[in-house]
Amino acid sequence: MLWYMRYLMSLTGAFFLFYFGLQPLSELFEENLPPDQNLEITLINTSQCHLVGRKSPPPITRTHENVVRLQCNKAQVLFTDTRSDGNYLMPSQIFEVLWCKYWLYTPQDWNMEKLLGDGQFNLIPNEQKGFKVGRGRQTVRVLCTSALNETKYHDVLLFLPPPEPDLVPHHESDDKMSVLILGIDSLSHMVFLRNFPFLNGLLDYLPHSKITGYSRVGLGAYENIMALLSGRSIDELDPDWQNPENESESASRGETKGPHFLWEKFKAAGYRTAYGEDTAQSFAGRTERWRFNRKFPEFNLHPIMLKMDRHTRYSIDIREMIHCTGGREFGDVLRDFISSLVPHFKQRLFFSFFWESQGVKEYYEFSRSLDVAYLMLLKRLEDENILNKTLVVLVSGHGLRKGNYRMSYQGMQEESQPLLIAIYPEWLKAKYPRAIANLETNTRRLVTPYDLHETLQDMLDLDHQLKDFNLQKRMRDLESRAGKNMPRGISLFLPIPDARTCDMAGIPSLFCFCRDLTEVPTDDGLVVRCSRFLVKSINQLLKPYPKCEELKLHMVLLAYFVDFGEESFIYELKLRVKTLPGEGVFEGTVRLTDRMHLTSPVNRISRYLSRSTCVQEPYIRTMCHCRE
Ligand SMILES: *[C@@H]1O[C@H](CO)[C@@H](O)[C@H](O)[C@H]1NC(C)=O
Ligand SMILES: *[C@@H]1O[C@H](CO)[C@@H](O)[C@H](O)[C@H]1NC(C)=O
Ligand SMILES: *[C@@H]1O[C@H](CO)[C@@H](O)[C@H](O)[C@H]1NC(C)=O
Ligand SMILES: *[C@@H]1O[C@H](CO)[C@@H](O)[C@H](O)[C@H]1NC(C)=O
Repeated sequence: MLWYMRYLMSLTGAFFLFYFGLQPLSELFEENLPPDQNLEITLINTSQCHLVGRKSPPPITRTHENVVRLQCNKAQVLFTDTRSDGNYLMPSQIFEVLWCKYWLYTPQDWNMEKLLGDGQFNLIPNEQKGFKVGRGRQTVRVLCTSALNETKYHDVLLFLPPPEPDLVPHHESDDKMSVLILGIDSLSHMVFLRNFPFLNGLLDYLPHSKITGYSRVGLGAYENIMALLSGRSIDELDPDWQNPENESESASRGETKGPHFLWEKFKAAGYRTAYGEDTAQSFAGRTERWRFNRKFPEFNLHPIMLKMDRHTRYSIDIREMIHCTGGREFGDVLRDFISSLVPHFKQRLFFSFFWESQGVKEYYEFSRSLDVAYLMLLKRLEDENILNKTLVVLVSGHGLRKGNYRMSYQGMQEESQPLLIAIYPEWLKAKYPRAIANLETNTRRLVTPYDLHETLQDMLDLDHQLKDFNLQKRMRDLESRAGKNMPRGISLFLPIPDARTCDMAGIPSLFCFCRDLTEVPTDDGLVVRCSRFLVKSINQLLKPYPKCEELKLHMVLLAYFVDFGEESFIYELKLRVKTLPGEGVFEGTVRLTDRMHLTSPVNRISRYLSRSTCVQEPYIRTMCHCRE
């Protein structure tokens, strides 16, 4: 830890220390850890659920390479500069004459750009002159070769000029706020506390709520993001999907039936939208039915990512999961994109969604390298006064899902406790004191992406939803709905009931750590029977995919009895099994009533990439061992 902090310090300079006050950071430099190393913090504290998180990680074997120090190893030969008279490519570090060809694009569709034209130029050492390539919002792909016809530079660059000044000033009402969702994949709350000391230091100076009781409701980022954006689980989304653009359909079937992504709602309310991920394998690309094609976000990184992925991508880690273009990581490209949007954020109301996954998804240590980047981003937003009219949601879908870290009990628990932090302006507290007080109370309650969905929906009409008078009415209404009538998603501006259980919140058994778990011997007869059932269920799912081999139970690795309380007759086991061929490690929950059934999706916790390329369906892919 210590060497890393020093390394970072030299990187960022002492500037930050003085800027944010020495106090909180200096503690991190103490050589001696506090006497109580296993210091715990309370994540959830309700009558139904008490959960703590440990400040220190479980002992894990280190990865072979130091991923925090990995860097793109090609030169960034060109930079972009947008000036009032057009877009310029600015050369840097030119050591030999290069012949460059470029292709110029403009946004066209959700996943496509239109080719505007192409051209050529030469780069000569020590000549700093820029090349004008066009104007406005454009993407340019550049390929430069040496005299020997070797490719020296291949990159995709984005021009995103600031907006034209508004001729007619926009009078957006005071109570309207932008929403900025900053997602970091596979980041649990506890890992955030460990790996983001600088960002945590900045948070001390911003009004915010750390919702430590945030729980996932689905396996992967995709499932949890969809729950956040639609208020529905994956199973609920697909069967009754309808075209959100087909208004006659929506009207005839009634408001409640359509998917109604937050995206569409904010757009309908006059917000601009922006979307970006640091990968071409984006979650939005996973469903054709997402239907961005007509109402694609005004500011969309996806087609640019696709272009980088196709033409200029290379990897820097052994698992080939961290990608670069030119001298930049894909993550840098995403953050540059967000940065370029800052002048736009200043001018108009925005609903934006960004998701960073490369590296963090694979390596425990990697998120440390994001600390300073996100610190700078938030600092910039604060300096530009954007935080004064924006709700920033720092969020993840789940914790780390694979590897040695995940094998420990703590790793298993943290997988289900993703990060959720809401950052809001000071005036919100003064204007809606009760709503913010509820939000604070909810930080230690059992919270899900469904709740976050409802919360963001409230942002569409703050005054109506959060004014004390209206809020009290909503609170009384919530109180009157006991037990089964309790809605699954509840806005975080309302008090989440203390008595909420995982079932009420829509959290599948496998992701619920509120119930006591008792480890039971793996050779117990019932444990073995349930484990066989788990593997049989996997094979059932694999049946429609003849390219996948049938799996056999090799070993029961772990078994827990799930305690539902004394009055309950539910008998449920949480199991970890290893199967053959392929030695896949899976977790699942099996419930015994008059028959056996699964109460959660099956969770693959060992790596599988190269062995499952014969199927496309992501969930099946985690289970499939392709035939030779
Ligand atoms: C948990 O909640 C109880 C009752 O509301 C309270 O007395 C106790 O101090 C809380 N514990 C923590 C660690 O917050
Ligand atoms: C350079 O190499 C590419 C393929 O690598 C080839 O298509 C192109 O014709 C070559 N150009 C010259 C001038 O030799
Ligand atoms: C819209 O929905 C109606 C009613 O379900 C259907 O008849 C029509 O074909 C749909 N239009 C489009 C463009 O999908
Ligand atoms: C922040 O927003 C509030 C409410 O719109 C406004 O009253 C206040 O002046 C703003 N503060 C700054 C520093 O712009």
